[in-house]
Amino acid sequence: MKNIYSNIYKATNNNLNKAKIVIEKGDVVAVPTETVYGLAANAYNNKAVKKIFALKKRPSHNPLIIHFKNIEQIKKETIINNNFLKLAKKFSPGPLTYVLKKKKNSKISKFANKGLSSIAVRIPNEKNILKLLNILKCPLAAPSANKSKSLSPTTAKHVADEFNGKVKMIIDGGACTIGIESTVIDLTAKPKILREGGLSSEIIEKFLKTKLSENKNKVIKSPGQIGLHYSPGMPIYMNRNKAIKDGALIAFANRSYSNKNVFNLSTKGNLKEAAKNFFNTLRVIKNKKFKSISVNKIPNKDLGKAINERLIRAAQYE
Ligand code: TXA
Ligand code: MG
Repeated sequence: MKNIYSNIYKATNNNLNKAKIVIEKGDVVAVPTETVYGLAANAYNNKAVKKIFALKKRPSHNPLIIHFKNIEQIKKETIINNNFLKLAKKFSPGPLTYVLKKKKNSKISKFANKGLSSIAVRIPNEKNILKLLNILKCPLAAPSANKSKSLSPTTAKHVADEFNGKVKMIIDGGACTIGIESTVIDLTAKPKILREGGLSSEIIEKFLKTKLSENKNKVIKSPGQIGLHYSPGMPIYMNRNKAIKDGALIAFANRSYSNKNVFNLSTKGNLKEAAKNFFNTLRVIKNKKFKSISVNKIPNKDLGKAINERLIRAAQYE
């Protein structure tokens, strides 16, 4: 039997150099970020970008996030504005993705942003992917390293489990420190949150001193925000205090529960800790073959918004 973990590589300088060569050849490498692991390829290379879509079985209308080493590199591909500069100086590198207008002469593959006039860009805050970006000449197109619709990976082993040897190289940077995807903000007009994520929209609102407009048009503006996603493959019931028969319970803050079917995201009631444990907990429950998941009420503030947004999507299971 092929060992599916043999393609996990420690994040040494030597292995990052190997990853650089694989990427320059037009192949795909799985990389750690502070949010979730990504499936990365040369963002300038059409064929390489298409490989990501094929591996993920990602619907072809859903554009990818492009990862950059710094603000200067972003300026080469996008038309920036004051809101971008303010936010990027404060929050990048970090779990915030900016949707900006794409420059006419941008070299980013049109397959990466699906021919839109905008691209989603971010500077990740994880030392190994930053090292890799610094030795490469190209930015990296990278969606989360999971099959389309399924759970996002927060360790190298999750990626290996997901792709079963089909990704040649997985760089192991340890468990992701944030554990849920970046927040996506549209800056092509009045700032608007397209996806809640690792940086709470409340922090962004406070910093910009403005109320961010509601995203009523998610379908058109952010194709990845429609339909079933983040799915553990079983029904999910939100705002519950008890599991149902053969089901698991995801608890939050409540120490009084303890049973083999109870998984606590944070006994302290800390939303950051809960976010970090979120996808791993869903994966553990899935692997233990429970039949359903009931979830305690998660406060809908700070990173709780991002957790609830993902639970609502995951609960669209039929
Ligand atoms: O934390 C993250 O953002 C991770 C790590 C790997 O960086 N990446 C990630 O990528 O979550 P992905 O492909 O799973 O999600 C990208 C989201 C999708 O909802 C997609 O529709 C949206 O960003 N997006 C990408 N380009 C866009 C664009 N030009 N306009 C609007 N939304 C866009
Ligand atoms: Mg994803």
